Amino acid sequence: MKTLLVTGGAGFIGGNFVLEAVARGDRVVNLDKLTYAGNLDTLAAVRGHANHVFVQGDIGDRALCARLLAEHAVDAVVNFAAESHVDRSIDGPAAFIETNVAGTLALLEAARDYWKALPLARQDGFRFLHVSTDEVYGSLGPVGRFTETTPYAPNSPYSASKAASDHLVRAFHHTWGLPVLTTNCSNNYGPYQFPEKLIPLTLQKALHGEPLPVYGDGRNVRDWLYVGDHCAAIRRVLEAGRVGETYNVGGDAERENLHVVRTICALLDARRPPADGRPRESLIRFVKDRPGHDRRYAIDAGKIRRELGWTPAVGFEEGIGRTVDWYLDHQPWVARVLDGSYRLERIGQGAEVGA
Ligand code: NAD
Ligand code: DAU
Repeated sequence: MKTLLVTGGAGFIGGNFVLEAVARGDRVVNLDKLTYAGNLDTLAAVRGHANHVFVQGDIGDRALCARLLAEHAVDAVVNFAAESHVDRSIDGPAAFIETNVAGTLALLEAARDYWKALPLARQDGFRFLHVSTDEVYGSLGPVGRFTETTPYAPNSPYSASKAASDHLVRAFHHTWGLPVLTTNCSNNYGPYQFPEKLIPLTLQKALHGEPLPVYGDGRNVRDWLYVGDHCAAIRRVLEAGRVGETYNVGGDAERENLHVVRTICALLDARRPPADGRPRESLIRFVKDRPGHDRRYAIDAGKIRRELGWTPAVGFEEGIGRTVDWYLDHQPWVARVLDGSYRLERIGQGAEVGA
């Protein structure tokens, strides 16, 4: 049994990771600020569990991070905590610098000091795993895929802040020897994703017969990764990744946004036939593009496959079907997470231009 300090463990990916880690017998100290994106409802299955300690707090609070590491004799840190939504970073970049850059720095400093004070045998086993994104590599043309050696070229305030955090993680390894690992993954989807992101937003609006905003021409491509596969990859990197290395994680499932939206509509039509008989595709509206919208992301996950034997197990068609079913079965969860300030409105600038 290992003790993990998981940050951002009340969010989408962190929440999935925590549920799985506790189920497999790890002890998890879950540090989350509970921003609009963090929800304790996601953690209902581990509430009161002896191996799950939830702490509401900020990764930017170095003293708190130091105390949690020492008090719980942590073996590894998994850093999910972040401001994660590109559109929000266009409306207000400051929070992204605060959490993703300054927050990660404070957490790294606490981890370095804790790690240096550990007995040698425990120092060897300690890991700091930083969860990052493929968006740090910028945008691709029609061909090619991101590898771990693709130069960084972040285009949004969000990806710039993640790039900065990746560089800090790298610097803590090279300067102080902190045993770090970094993963850069593509677009996740699946249970418990906050409905501001394309898939759950589309699902929710389509279910309620509301217009479905598609940015620009809808031909932007994302490489969709089922969240359970991402969690398995993080687990593999934590167990066997080479210290100081970065690993790309992708779903091998490139799809145009329009295809994704149409697929969700078709799945919902089959499961919940629309009352007026009109296919939900008719709700699609092409709206003003996202400023600086990256055209295409695609991951070459060859390194993690060759070195650690990880490949995605869930294909897009299976994963999207599962996701639609999950949201249909968990409408009370959606209602609860939307009872705050965000109510599915367009953010990140833009007005409807389509019919
Ligand atoms: P999310 O927005 O769903 O969750 C983020 C969590 O972090 C929330 O629970 C929030 O309360 C918490 N948090 C925010 N600021 C904090 C702070 N200062 N201190 C402590 N907790 C804080 O995000 P997600 O989609 O689960 O993404 C998790 C990580 O994975 C992020 O680092 C993100 O950059 C990265 N990532 C996400 C995707 C994706 O498709 N969702 C893809 C690649 C990488
Ligand atoms: O690639 C990894 C990244 O994927 C993560 O680092 C980010 O945390 C995560 O939010 C995600 O970023 P994207 O910007 O790709 O995800 P989003 O769901 O916001 O948008 C996916 C695509 O769909 C993108 O091309 C914009 C488009 N879109 C999005 C929304 C919300 C629409 O067309 N309409 C919408 O309403």
